[in-house]
Amino acid sequence: MDLAELARHTGAEVNKYYVGLGQTAQTVPAPDEDIVTMAAAAARQIVARHGADGIRTILFATESGIDQSKSAAVYVQDLIGLSAATRAVELKQACYGGTAALQLAAGIVARDPQQRVLVIAADIAKYDLDSAGEATQGGAAVAMLVAANPALAVLDEPSGLYTANVQDFWRPNYRSTPMVDGKLSIGAYLEAVEQAWKDYEGRGGRGFAEFAGFCYHQPFTKMAYKAHTRLLELKGVEPTAARLYADLSRTAVYNRMIGNSYTASLYVALLSLLDHAEDLTGRPVAMFSYGSGAVAELFSLTPVPGYRDQLRTAGNRAAIAGREPISYENYRAVRDFALPDDGAELTVPAVTASPYRLTAVSGHSRIYGADR
Ligand code: CAA
Repeated sequence: MDLAELARHTGAEVNKYYVGLGQTAQTVPAPDEDIVTMAAAAARQIVARHGADGIRTILFATESGIDQSKSAAVYVQDLIGLSAATRAVELKQACYGGTAALQLAAGIVARDPQQRVLVIAADIAKYDLDSAGEATQGGAAVAMLVAANPALAVLDEPSGLYTANVQDFWRPNYRSTPMVDGKLSIGAYLEAVEQAWKDYEGRGGRGFAEFAGFCYHQPFTKMAYKAHTRLLELKGVEPTAARLYADLSRTAVYNRMIGNSYTASLYVALLSLLDHAEDLTGRPVAMFSYGSGAVAELFSLTPVPGYRDQLRTAGNRAAIAGREPISYENYRAVRDFALPDDGAELTVPAVTASPYRLTAVSGHSRIYGADR
């Protein structure tokens, strides 16, 4: 949905969204999509290219869980046909969960380099109707394969860490949308950038000038600009518009059109950078992960020789361009569609062009289908 459609409803000046938040559109998943179908669609591409040998763990990070007990990773293991000899679990810490999964995966691979770990970050960002956060909604899934000999980038040491108990964004079990203190969340994010950077420096991290790129978690793309301004000021560099544009614009191309994707957002920013930058072989990229509540991590990735052969730039662009534009009224119809919560049977209408879909709800269970 183009945010001009939302502006038509809210009465906001559309540049509040396009310029003020740095968002042009938001992804609205179809009624027959959820984090499982999105995750399976992402993961099957990586398994198709790299095979499934040695994958004994799936770590699925999300804050859009479909079940309080069973992990979404179990459905993905089944849908993409991975071995039964797999540990399949779900992780949660708001938007930070994907980075937690990545680091835990690196630990498993360090212990046994024969193993590879499938890491998935998938979320659907949904706020209350007519709330300030509604303009930042979106959704995406990213799959990553963590291995001893990575084809894309090396996960570097060290990491800068920061945790603070702050009530900026949370979702009690009985709610389908989060509680948000928007201004507090922006302040908490900025504080986390500064503290995680200081911890990173204290652990002997790379010098600021060594980075060829800066990827931030992007709840809306303007947030990356606010965060980078904070970091530049901390390092005594003037945050001119030209400097900010040079450092960030290529990381925001996809998120501008997708909206917030919580756990996936930082990794969508990385994809955007890799798909739009010059050759970054051997040139470290700073990554800042933030999950409200709040946990943050600052680390780096260094693209390896040949990484450009692994990019799926045309596919990523096609996935974004292939979304069907919808009006505000259509968006409301999708929002109003609800799965039964009383055990009733429901056949879900077929809408998505994804290789996987939610086909039915039966006996309180979600039933998925695949085109394979
Ligand atoms: N033209 C250009 N710019 C305009 C404008 C216009 N006509 N009208 C307003 N703006 C600008 C404002 O000046 C403001 O810019 P600055 O922040 O640079 O001053 C920007 O547009 C937004 O305007 P408001 O601050 O008035 O917007 P708001 O209060 O209605 O909502 C928000 C903004 C609080 C971020 C809201 O979208 C929200 O609650 N979002 C969800 C929470 C969130 O994303 N927090 C981010 C940190 S937490 C995190 O990162 C975890 C996560 O994923 C949720």
